[in-house]
Amino acid sequence: MFLKRNTTLVAASLTLITGLIATLQQPNERNLLVLPKDISDEQLDSLMQTYNKALGVQCNFCHVPFDKTIPDSLDYASDKEPMKTEARKMMEMTIHLNKTYFWYDSTRPPYLLNAVKCKTCHQGEAFPPED
Ligand code: HEC
Ligand code: HEC
Repeated sequence: MFLKRNTTLVAASLTLITGLIATLQQPNERNLLVLPKDISDEQLDSLMQTYNKALGVQCNFCHVPFDKTIPDSLDYASDKEPMKTEARKMMEMTIHLNKTYFWYDSTRPPYLLNAVKCKTCHQGEAFPPED
């Protein structure tokens, strides 16, 4: 009787612990809809740097802070900044242009196909110059 109750307790605690771990892990999960989920931190960072440069902006142009009073604490996984959603469309468009209209090496990941890059149109400005 005692033993049986103990086993149930252990099973219940295990379920609780597993659930807790899953919850704790969630914020670390990447929210990538265009880029491959297994992209390395280095590749992701250097790609993001090219966006800053191509558009002449800082990371906070597309990423909101966790806390408005600490502008540097950016929540990169959040989709609250509408520019991030716009940027995803631009990424898809750029991939499409490269795949459709340019020769490409299919062994390279599509986000690296860069006959056309953000810079090609943006030339260092968030809203590309008209002339
Ligand atoms: C022009 C908009 C834009 C700029 C500027 C930008 N990002 Fe991003 N960032 C994105 C988009 C869009 C995604 C999501 C890509 C996807 O869905 O595949 C993203 C995703 C990320 C992620 C992954 C978040 C996650 O879900 O885990 C990190 C980290 C990140 N950006 C860091 C940066 C850093 C650091 C900078 C500045 C050097 C920066 N970004 C500048 C648009 C931008
Ligand atoms: C073929 C040209 C072209 C390419 C390539 C391109 N853009 Fe754009 N992008 C534009 C134009 C034009 C606008 C301005 C649209 C407007 O004024 O409404 C724009 C606007 C934007 C905006 C502002 C959103 C908005 O609603 O206007 C963001 C953010 C952006 N681009 C990010 C990117 C990123 C990141 C890349 C590379 C992955 C990229 N763009 C590649 C042409 C391009």
